[in-house]
Amino acid sequence: MDSTCEETLQEPGANGHKPVLLKEVVRLLNPSKSQTYLDCTFGGGGHTRAILESADCKVVAIDRDPAAAARAEKFKAEFGDRFEFYPVRFSQLDKLQTKGYAGILFDFGVSSFQLDDASRGFSFMRNGPIDMRMNNSEGPTALQFIRSIDEFELTKILREYGEERRAKKIAHRIKEVDGHISTTAELASAIAEAAPSHEKTHPATRAFQAIRIALNGELDEIESALPKAFDILSEGGIMAAISFHSLEDRITKRFFKKVCGLPQGNFDRTCAQDRVKLAELLTRKPITPSEDELRDNPRSRSSKLRAVRKD
Ligand SMILES: C[S@@+](CC[C@H](N)C(=O)[O-])C[C@H]1O[C@@H](n2cnc3c(N)ncnc32)[C@H](O)[C@@H]1O
Repeated sequence: MDSTCEETLQEPGANGHKPVLLKEVVRLLNPSKSQTYLDCTFGGGGHTRAILESADCKVVAIDRDPAAAARAEKFKAEFGDRFEFYPVRFSQLDKLQTKGYAGILFDFGVSSFQLDDASRGFSFMRNGPIDMRMNNSEGPTALQFIRSIDEFELTKILREYGEERRAKKIAHRIKEVDGHISTTAELASAIAEAAPSHEKTHPATRAFQAIRIALNGELDEIESALPKAFDILSEGGIMAAISFHSLEDRITKRFFKKVCGLPQGNFDRTCAQDRVKLAELLTRKPITPSEDELRDNPRSRSSKLRAVRKD
């Protein structure tokens, strides 16, 4: 994995969420008057606000987290008809009534609001229940999930979604203790006992990320969302996606290459005449944060922005 999750040891969290690659996103989307943009990851609304403030346009936003829906209420009061919010998941994008967006943005992963709220259980640095649900009003918590699967399945999850080399040891230890633990601190210390780390990152970084991704079906959500989003993008519209780890980035990169009629990688044996070009790749190399942004917001460090323009 290029890098691990957004959580850093040096900075447990600013007040609220600092939107990542904000200027770069606005430059790419280039919002213009009377156009409608879709923000698929509203979070704290940082990107939505920048779009709404840069032109007299409209933003439709979604987020699966009920806490984001509550924050969106304030945007409705502030921006009126220029802003709409729907509490749905990426995979439900085809249910949106509005089609023909001039720009669509994804900013994957979790927000600082989620990471920094101990009661949401996303963080090994803040002690709380082992929850990790992006929508904490439905489905099993991470603890219930861990208890419901066997050691083999947990090993697979740690390997696939955390690219954790010590997956077997960690899974074995978690399954030894999962009946007796209830907090993120207990889970993190079980992981650290099984696989102490001498690196800068906490030994639980990859395991927490893996469990979170599996619990929330994050990669399936992205796989299902990208083509649906591309369908509702207008001709000449821009689709941009910010990823935070190589699993998200790989899905995005392959999808963008596919719609641009390019080989998705060395494994792609599709004949040239069978490729269909539906878009222009705007980022041959991903856009990454500037030195200033890295200094100001260490959590941006693994972010990568890619974009295409629909033909
Ligand atoms: C990194 S944050 C976005 C921050 C936002 N751009 C800002 O400036 O405040 C990602 C957000 O996407 C939401 N999210 C993640 N996966 C989702 C999905 N499959 N469907 C809907 N929302 C999702 C999370 O709940 C979180 O609020």
